[in-house]
Order: sequence, then C-alpha cells, then structure tokens
Amino acid sequence: MKDSSFKKKKIGVLMGGLSREREISLRTGKALCKALVEKGYEACPIDVDRDIAGKLIKKKIEVAFVALHGRYGEDGTIQGMLELMGIPYTGSGVLASALCLHKIMAKKILLLEGIPTPPSEHLRREEIERGGAKKISLPLPLVVKPAREGSTIGISIVKKEEDLQGALKEAGRYDEEILVETFIKGKEITVGILNDIALPIIEIAPKSGFYDYRSKYTKGETEYILPARIPREKYLASQEISLRAYQALGCSGCGRVDLMTDEEGSPFVIDVNTMPGMTETSLLPKAAEFAGISFGELAERILLGASLKIES
Ligand SMILES: Nc1ncnc2c1ncn2[C@@H]1O[C@H](COP(=O)(O)OP(=O)(O)OP(=O)(O)O)[C@@H](O)[C@H]1O
Ligand SMILES: [Mg+2]
Repeated sequence: MKDSSFKKKKIGVLMGGLSREREISLRTGKALCKALVEKGYEACPIDVDRDIAGKLIKKKIEVAFVALHGRYGEDGTIQGMLELMGIPYTGSGVLASALCLHKIMAKKILLLEGIPTPPSEHLRREEIERGGAKKISLPLPLVVKPAREGSTIGISIVKKEEDLQGALKEAGRYDEEILVETFIKGKEITVGILNDIALPIIEIAPKSGFYDYRSKYTKGETEYILPARIPREKYLASQEISLRAYQALGCSGCGRVDLMTDEEGSPFVIDVNTMPGMTETSLLPKAAEFAGISFGELAERILLGASLKIES
C-alpha cells in the first residue's frame, strides 16, 4: 500500500490492553496517535479489551497500528486475530511476536543461529517447590526472569546462593516457565531496528545499577548515552548481531534488541522487543532522532509497513 492509500484509510491505534504493561502502552499509543494525526492520517485510539474485535468492526478500522506491550498484544494473539479479520497491521507477525515474547523460546533460536546470548537454564513453576534452586547448575551471579514479561517485571539479580529460591518464587508468580541466565557484568546497550536497518546504539546507565521498572519509567533515574561509548569494532558487531537476532526471529517493521556487553566489550543478546516503547522519550524514537528520523516520520514509516503476513 502506498502513502496516499493509507491517507484514505481509517487507522486504529491499538493500545492499553490486558497486560501488566497496560499503562506504558497507553503512553505509547497516545504519542503515536497524535503523531499520525499531525501527519494527516485519520487515526483514532482504540483501547484493547476482550471485545476488541467488536470495537474494530464498529469503528470500521481498516489498518491497525499495534501499540501494545506484553501478553495479548506483543505475543501474537492480537496479530492472529487481525490476520483472521483481514485487517493489515504494523510490526511483527504471529510467529515472531510469540517467539520474542517467550524468552526461553527466543534464546533457543538465537543459539541455533550462533547469536551470542548468556548461558541459561529453565524451570517450570512446579519444579520450584520440588528442589528449585538445587536444580540450577550455573554459577552465580544469575538473573532470574519470568519467560513472558516485559519492563523488568518479576526479574531479580541473584548474587548469593540463599537468594536464589526466593528469586525463582518471585518469577514464578508471573509465569509458569522461568528463565535463569548468567549475569553479564558490563555495559547495557540497546539497538533499535527500523525496517531492517540497525539504528545508532544507546548505552543505558541506571543510577541504581539495575534497569528495573522504576529506572525505566522515572525521569532522571537513568542516564542514556547516545551513541554508546563502546569501541567501534564492538559497536558494529553489536549492530550486526542485533539485526541478525531480529531477522532470525522473523521480526518485521520495527523492534529493539537489548544487549549486555561483558568486561571485554563482547555483546550478548538478552531480549528482543517487537513493540518497543514509543513515547517521544522512549529509546527507539531517541535512536531514530539521532539518525535524523523525527518521531512523526518514525510513526509514519512503521505505519506504511502495515500488512497481513500470513498470506503474503
Ligand atoms: N543476563 C543479564 N545480565 C545482566 N543484566 C541483565 C541480564 N538480563 C537482564 N538484565 C537486566 O535486567 C533488565 C531486564 O531484562 P530483560 O531486558 O531481559 O527484560 P524485559 O523485562 O523483557 O525488558 P523490556 O522492558 O525491554 O521488555 C535488563 O534491562 C538488564 O538491566
Ligand atoms: Mg529488555
């Protein structure tokens, strides 16, 4: 579809939703909706709930801009519904969305493709009570994560043996599958991807030392350095492995790959986000702006990539 045809379409910006990241999605969705209207598109906000199919029909939505984070939005479920309804949508399709939101499955693909990711083990919730911490053979320090959350929800860094069982239980509150990963000591960086191009790298330096929910969404809690202060050769390698990770998982439209670099500066992929935060101060828009792409232009470029993916 060309720009001109999108200008005649009714665009629904799908936001909010049912996940724990609902509030962040509302911020993302509102910023995108405003930007699209300013660009001359007929975009309207759609708050996603279980009656979303009915809402889309009632509002005669012809194109969906998916601005949802987490489960029922970033995990392939909404994408599957839109495929069935025949409504073109932005971003990744069903399979890539489902894979990226499931950290254990995503890591399996990365490993198969030879893309560096920290060593890991995984447990099911019922195993936590039956032995739990004793089943983990990786050495400390470790990071314990629910398989399918975002915004650092349910994640703990474990430095002492006696804290491991509690961290597993905490992650088990959010998911029945739990990922235990080697802690990489070094710099945290993130690589935005727009239409198969890796954007400039942002270095993330949280004041607390841990990029948790508070550090992510409270102004002044984290310093963002653009471009990241890493040697040129490692910088290029990080962009390259990020793009490879994005492509290996089958992503489209846009994404953001989170990495840790170790003390030698070697990058490891820790997380691939198919619908990164998109408020005007979020990381992908920051990287795009540094590359000369304004927020409005970014929203428009993602919109113009809207399609049905299953039939193509
Ligand atoms: N292996 C690791 N080594 C060191 N720190 C880590 C590791 N894995 C995660 N972290 C820290 O925990 C944070 C959250 O981890 P991760 O990106 O996997 O989770 P998320 O909740 O899905 O994030 P997002 O908000 O990007 O969806 C990271 O930003 C990083 O600060
Ligand atoms: Mg992350």
